[in-house]
Amino acid sequence: MRHKLELLRDEAAAAFAAARSEADLQQVKGRYLGPRGLVTGLLKHLRDLPAEELPLVGRLANEVKLFLEGQVIAQRQRLKDERLSARMSQQLDLTLPGRRPWLGHQHPIAIVQQEIESIFIGLGFEIVEGPEVELDYYNFEALNMPADHPARDMQDTFYLPGGFVLRTHTSAVQVRVMEKRQPPVRIIAPGRVYRRDHDLTHTPMFHQVEGLLVDRGIRFSHLKGTLEAFAHRMFGPDTPVRFRPSFFPYTEPSAEVDIGCVMCGGRGCRVCSHSGWLEILGAGMVDPAVYEFVNYDSEEFTGFAFGMGIERIAMLRFGINDLRLFFENDLRFLRQF
Ligand code: DAH
Repeated sequence: MRHKLELLRDEAAAAFAAARSEADLQQVKGRYLGPRGLVTGLLKHLRDLPAEELPLVGRLANEVKLFLEGQVIAQRQRLKDERLSARMSQQLDLTLPGRRPWLGHQHPIAIVQQEIESIFIGLGFEIVEGPEVELDYYNFEALNMPADHPARDMQDTFYLPGGFVLRTHTSAVQVRVMEKRQPPVRIIAPGRVYRRDHDLTHTPMFHQVEGLLVDRGIRFSHLKGTLEAFAHRMFGPDTPVRFRPSFFPYTEPSAEVDIGCVMCGGRGCRVCSHSGWLEILGAGMVDPAVYEFVNYDSEEFTGFAFGMGIERIAMLRFGINDLRLFFENDLRFLRQF
């Protein structure tokens, strides 16, 4: 019996060590240690032994069983280690050149928007945002454009039920801010705007940055100085800036602001229609009629406002001649920024 146990122990240990896979090992384990296994079978015969032999052989039998169970665990670990090192030696070639991770970067519109923001932050303005789905009231009505006002025609948009529109300009944010705060107000409001336009120089969605400053004693000269400082930081300190009289229902007086053509330096070219100037924004002194809507005292406070298109600034800044390039997601274009 002792001899048999020892033989079986060595045979089983060798079989475990020869197992080539986990499934293999399971099967061999069953053959020796399973309910009908060889070792299990032999142990059943212990009770047939003479009483004086039982303690000694019984202990040996127990040792064999524990030993073999330990072997199964050890061999399972060996198989795992083998699998791992096989994988490592196949796939980990440390001499291969590395793969450069693909780095994304910001869209040119986002780059220019942040440049505009940081210039105005430097001038003491604060950034605020308003909703893109806006009430007619904020987009038109409270900006002195009642329902039948002809100025609405230039900014046709999507009218939604419930008095909502897709905002046509960021000017709507002016009213929202003044409604909530008392002067001094000094904000810019960047964001998307929507109009029913689609051609070479217009897309149905584009971006604007609005500016508003209201306080005591604000004059047109403050507006001029602020926008000149902006143009000089954005386009270079020698860029000429000019103000032309214009009309907006929410400013009086109103102006359109041009910079000297960045393409030809003012000599005249196709980009500036041979005028030497490029329009970059609309601006003016906030019309007292707007203050009525937000309960500001127009005898006490005055202010200026302006609004610029980010795409337009970006085109001039980077010398881009087709607005649609911004929205086509062509990587050959986008990678250049
Ligand atoms: N909202 C005008 C537009 O989209 C731009 C503008 C003009 C904004 C004059 C202003 C302003 O704040 O004072 O064309």
